[in-house]
Amino acid sequence: MNIILDVDTGVDDAFALLFAARSPLVNLIGITCVDGNTNLDNVVANTLTVLDAAGAGDIPVARGAARPLLELPSYAEFVHGSDGMVEMQSKDSKRVLDPRTAIELMRDLINASPEPVTLVPIGPLTNIALFLRAFPDAASKLERIVLMGGSASVGNATATAEFNIWHDPEAAAIVFTSGVPITMYGLDVFTDLQMTQDDAKSLIAKGDKTSLFAGTLVDRFIKQMGHDVTLGDYGAVATAIAPQLARTQSLRVVVDTTHGPNRGQTVCDHRSYADIAPESAHTHAPQVDVVLEIDIKAMKDMWIKTITGN
Ligand code: BDR
Ligand code: CA
Repeated sequence: MNIILDVDTGVDDAFALLFAARSPLVNLIGITCVDGNTNLDNVVANTLTVLDAAGAGDIPVARGAARPLLELPSYAEFVHGSDGMVEMQSKDSKRVLDPRTAIELMRDLINASPEPVTLVPIGPLTNIALFLRAFPDAASKLERIVLMGGSASVGNATATAEFNIWHDPEAAAIVFTSGVPITMYGLDVFTDLQMTQDDAKSLIAKGDKTSLFAGTLVDRFIKQMGHDVTLGDYGAVATAIAPQLARTQSLRVVVDTTHGPNRGQTVCDHRSYADIAPESAHTHAPQVDVVLEIDIKAMKDMWIKTITGN
């Protein structure tokens, strides 16, 4: 499957990138960077560090938005560490950034691809919104957007809003109303893929470069958080390539862009339309495939097998 990953690397973005760069089921044709977990310079450096650790080939990587459309940036370094990747960022990568902007790279890759491309954004949706508005012809060729973001239940950045949506709600609203088919891998499943200290130890014991890097990342993240940690964003990539491992429900979803306590919430309509007044049905709201359950064991096994190569 031809995939473009849009990342704000980030520890769990790193888990997703390691997998996507190594999986035979993924043809990772490009990576675009956006600010989110940390500033854009860190995101880019972390992304290149992870690609080196994965032994990835020459995949184009482009810089994207350094801030949300309207908001000032607000990072999550208290979760991901001061460099955004629990101090595992290297400045030594020999990889050269693609000279195009993120949205130009998306446009060119989509136009050049003989088969439809799936876009997998696992950070705030700023780049995706800019791309949809700037290049609608290329956007109309997309197969689907499978994004990590949102929630049909509780939030994490606030009581009701998930971080990626909350970071740039206007961008999210543009994406959700774009008409491109969307799968939303949100907080309802985000923490299901838990990694333990034993998982970290057995990865490190494998000894090869990628397993060692992945195991050290898990180990440091557990120490930073003080508890087991989730593979997080990786689940969106897994859902894109193995949708049979995710149970979805088609729900109407509205992104709250108001400035009240629910700013950034993805309001998911679970009501039965047989029982409600037509005027309250919000039939204008886009229908989104919301992931409500995943096959935890199969997804976790798939990640470990892909990282370790056996
Ligand atoms: C999302 O926010 C970031 O911290 C993670 O990388 C993930 O994409 C979870 O809310
Ligand atoms: Ca992320």
